[in-house]
Amino acid sequence: MIGPLVVDPPLLQAPMAGFTNYAYRQIVRRLGGVGLPATEMLSARGFLTTGARGDDLPERLWGVKDEPRPLAVQIWDNDPGVLAAVAERLAREFTASVIDINFGCPVRNVSQKARSGSYLLRYPDRVGQIVARVVAACDPTPVTAKIRLGLTRQTINAADVARAVEVAGGAAVTVHGRTAAEKFAGLADWQRIAEIKPHLKRIPLIGNGDLRTPQSVVDAFGRWGVDGVMIGRAGLARPWLFRQAQAALAGRPVPPDPTLHQQHQLLLDHYRLIIERFGPKKGTILMRRYACKYAQGCHGAREFRIHVSRVSTPEEFMDAVQRHFPQPLHNLPLQHQHRAVGQANHAIGD
Ligand SMILES: Cc1cc2nc3c(=O)[nH]c(=O)nc-3n(C[C@H](O)[C@H](O)[C@H](O)COP(=O)(O)O)c2cc1C
Repeated sequence: MIGPLVVDPPLLQAPMAGFTNYAYRQIVRRLGGVGLPATEMLSARGFLTTGARGDDLPERLWGVKDEPRPLAVQIWDNDPGVLAAVAERLAREFTASVIDINFGCPVRNVSQKARSGSYLLRYPDRVGQIVARVVAACDPTPVTAKIRLGLTRQTINAADVARAVEVAGGAAVTVHGRTAAEKFAGLADWQRIAEIKPHLKRIPLIGNGDLRTPQSVVDAFGRWGVDGVMIGRAGLARPWLFRQAQAALAGRPVPPDPTLHQQHQLLLDHYRLIIERFGPKKGTILMRRYACKYAQGCHGAREFRIHVSRVSTPEEFMDAVQRHFPQPLHNLPLQHQHRAVGQANHAIGD
C-alpha cells in the first residue's frame, strides 16, 4: 500500500529520464506485471515557468493526463513552495496517483548546480520540510520519496532521511542501494537497504538496484525484507521482466521471454508510438536509444547498435531492424541455436 493505493504486484517501474515516457509505459503496461509505472523526473521549476498549458505542456508530461492509472509522477527541485505548487496541479489537474519527489539524482545539473536531487540527502530536515509541504498541498494523493543511501560511503544516512520522510507524512520511500558519489559503479548494497527497515514504523520500504531476473526479485523480498521493489534498467532491455517477476513472486512458472518475432513486434510498436508523438525525424533519432536497449544481452547486439545508432529516417530505421535485429541466442543451448537463427530469419522475412 502506498497511502490508499494498493500496489499489486509490489513491483514498481523506476523513473528514468529520457526513457520512461508514455510510449515505454504503454509497452510495460501491455506486457503486464507492473504495480506502479512512473514518469521521467520533471523539473518543478521548469513546469511553473514555462506555462504548462495546452501546447506548452512539458514533453515529460506526454500522455500523463489520459493514460490508465495507477501512475506516479516524479518531480524535482529544492524549494518546498515550488514543489508543493506543482504537486498540487499534478494531483488535481493531472490526477496523478502518486507524487514522487526525487532526492537521489546525482547528475551535476540537478545535484551540484540546482542543489536538488541527491544534494538534499545531506539535509534530512530539509527533506522533511519539503515532503510535509507537498503532502499538505496534494492531500489525499500520496507522496513518496526516492533516495540513495547517502552522499558518500562515509556519510550514509538513508535511515535518517527515510525517517524524515515518514514523519513528514510521506507514504513510501524508495532506496537505490548506492551512494550519490557511486553513481552506477559497483553493486547496489541491499544489506544497507535492509538496515533501513527497522527505522520505518508505518510506511513501506521499496528497494532498488540491479534487479535483473525474476529470481533476484524473489530473493530481494525473501532476503532483505523489503515491502516492494523497483526495477529500472533491466526493464528497458526486457520490459516483460515485470510479468516474469510477478509470476515468480506468486510461485507460478515464469513465462518465457517473448519470441524473437514478438520482440521485433514490440520494438516496432514502441517506434510507432514515438513517431506518432514526435514525427519521423525526431522520433527516429529518439528511438535509437530504446532500440539499443532492446538489443542488450543478445547475440549480434553490437552490430545492431552500431547500425541503428546512425539512422535518421524511418526507412533507415526499418532497414537496420530488418537486417540486424539481434538473434537472442544467449540463453539457448547450442543445439537450439540453429533453429533460433532459422526462426529469426523467418520473422524478419514476415
Ligand atoms: C538513464 C537513466 C535515467 C534515470 N533517471 C532517473 C530519474 O529521472 N529519476 C530517478 O529517481 N532516478 C532515475 N534513474 C535511476 C533509476 O530510477 C534507478 O534508481 C537506477 O537505475 C537503479 O535501478 P536499476 O539497477 O534497476 O536500473 C535513472 C537511471 C538511468 C539509468
